[in-house]
Amino acid sequence: MKTENTVWHEQKVSKSQRGQLKKQKPCLLWYTGLSGSGKSTVANAVDALLFERGHHSYLLDGDNVRHGLNGDLGFTDTDRIENIRRLSEVAKLFTDAGLIVSTAFISPFASDRQQAREKLPEGEFIEVFIDTPIEICEQRDPKGLYKKARAGEIKNFTGIDSSYDVPVSPEIHVETAKLSIEECAMQIVSYLEKNGFLE
Ligand code: PPS
Repeated sequence: MKTENTVWHEQKVSKSQRGQLKKQKPCLLWYTGLSGSGKSTVANAVDALLFERGHHSYLLDGDNVRHGLNGDLGFTDTDRIENIRRLSEVAKLFTDAGLIVSTAFISPFASDRQQAREKLPEGEFIEVFIDTPIEICEQRDPKGLYKKARAGEIKNFTGIDSSYDVPVSPEIHVETAKLSIEECAMQIVSYLEKNGFLE
């Protein structure tokens, strides 16, 4: 637990100096959307485009982080809140390291996304709503999880028996049912270019 004896140490090399090494301004692309909406797919495509252009980026993916750091958490509301709290702290550290960070978590609760936003300086948190209707997510069902949830084999499944707060004013609104993966990725890279995150 943090006490009055826990003292913050300033570091000599700043976040923006680290970013300048790769001609970028560090930021956090916070992807949110239902399971099967395409968060990981689009985030991977963006990450690959940034890498090809010589930028330093990193993608934190919900399923992957739950294999390690958050392997002790399930899908109750309390566990999801803790999942997002930890991951927003990790994402902040990665931006401090000068990276363009992407996170692909359902992050269903608006209050948790707001808390993640408030951890970063103004403008560095970019909410990317991967807006795919649940009917399409369920048709895609890439991991067969909707089928299991409908059969009652998975409890607390987002969109079925666990809630999802639709983002009210995301910085980027991506409709995967109307665009190709490449077009979705370019929409996000264009936002980064227009807003001065890439040189
Ligand atoms: S959350 O809500 O942000 O804490 O979830 P996240 O860490 O992104 O993990 C979502 C992935 O876990 C799988 N999964 C479930 N999702 C939703 N509800 C339930 N009950 C559930 N159980 C397992 C699922 O593969 C999610 O991956 P994506 O990529 O979103 O489909």
